[in-house]
Amino acid sequence: MYPYPVVVKAVWFNESTGEICWINTKKLPCEEEVTCSSDPVRVAVAIKDMEIRGAPAIGVAAALTIGAYALKVAGRGVEEFTSLVNSAIHTLLKTRPTAYNLFYALTKMQRTLREAVNKTSDTYTIARKLVETALEVYREDVEANLKIGEYGAELVPDNATILTHCNAGALATSAYGTALGVIRVAWYRGKRIRVIATETRPLLQGARLTVYELVKEGIPVTLVTDNAVGLLMRKEKIDLVVVGADRVTRDGYVVNKIGTYMIALAASRHEVPFYVAAPTSTIDLEHTIDQVVIEERDPGEVKYIMGQPITVETVDVYNYAFDVTDPDLVSAIITELGVIKPPYNETIPRTMSKKHS
Ligand code: MRU
Repeated sequence: MYPYPVVVKAVWFNESTGEICWINTKKLPCEEEVTCSSDPVRVAVAIKDMEIRGAPAIGVAAALTIGAYALKVAGRGVEEFTSLVNSAIHTLLKTRPTAYNLFYALTKMQRTLREAVNKTSDTYTIARKLVETALEVYREDVEANLKIGEYGAELVPDNATILTHCNAGALATSAYGTALGVIRVAWYRGKRIRVIATETRPLLQGARLTVYELVKEGIPVTLVTDNAVGLLMRKEKIDLVVVGADRVTRDGYVVNKIGTYMIALAASRHEVPFYVAAPTSTIDLEHTIDQVVIEERDPGEVKYIMGQPITVETVDVYNYAFDVTDPDLVSAIITELGVIKPPYNETIPRTMSKKHS
């Protein structure tokens, strides 16, 4: 399952305690703090506060939490058990509105619960089924990371300088990452590459997490401020961009970390390929872009950096966590089922039908 080294893990299931464990990404790179729990309320806080973050990691964490919690409450009557697990699912569904993987994973858990309850009233058996489904979601994400890496590496020329935004790495997924999965596989295949990581204000996932992962692995990385991207492109210092996604609509709109759209605009202006690496669990076939909720977060995240005030306390703030990139700015979408090219309104549904067939 792991053909390349996994330098750090975001979330995992501890079979011996029946708990989900995660590394607190808020404390990285200064401290590697691990927390374990089977309490959905505690995990919901961890997702909201972004101890656990990145769309695939959020989905996997939510699924594993339902498995862990089901084991904990197994032994109760089937009605009480079902109602407790359903209410845990609802608690987790309310954590972050944009990451589609959360809805993808929890819908799978709901389906497993429904089907298992129809077959048996033995809550231990049902709980075990829920754990199995959660582990499937986890393994599916590891496999997707690998495949995305393999397909994506083909698009990376030797000697390339690759710009990435935010953190779409191991710390956002189950193993290698999506954008960083592409970078890793290219690196392990012997391509000489360099990475430019944008710091990613306000929470600095690029500076704190992407740099941490790449330095740990020995992949050359240079950190830049978010607003340096235009100049770097003008100076022809970027050969391609690879970013992740929180949600991709059926017609190819990409919702990703705030700042992605500006990078895509600059890339288009300078004819730099702009790739999005995302598993099909990020692709939302049901909602149009106008129906997608763009998360707005606490203004304090903008007014303070690592607890230090940087502006006037009373100022108004917009703190949108994500933005929207139009399909015509996206050169290709790298999924575990292959590289999807425009016209996306045709190619995305066609690719997704392979998954469901
Ligand atoms: O707010 P975050 O840190 O959860 O945002 C993460 C991103 O925007 C990632 O690019 C996206 O979730 C893909 S991670 C493989």
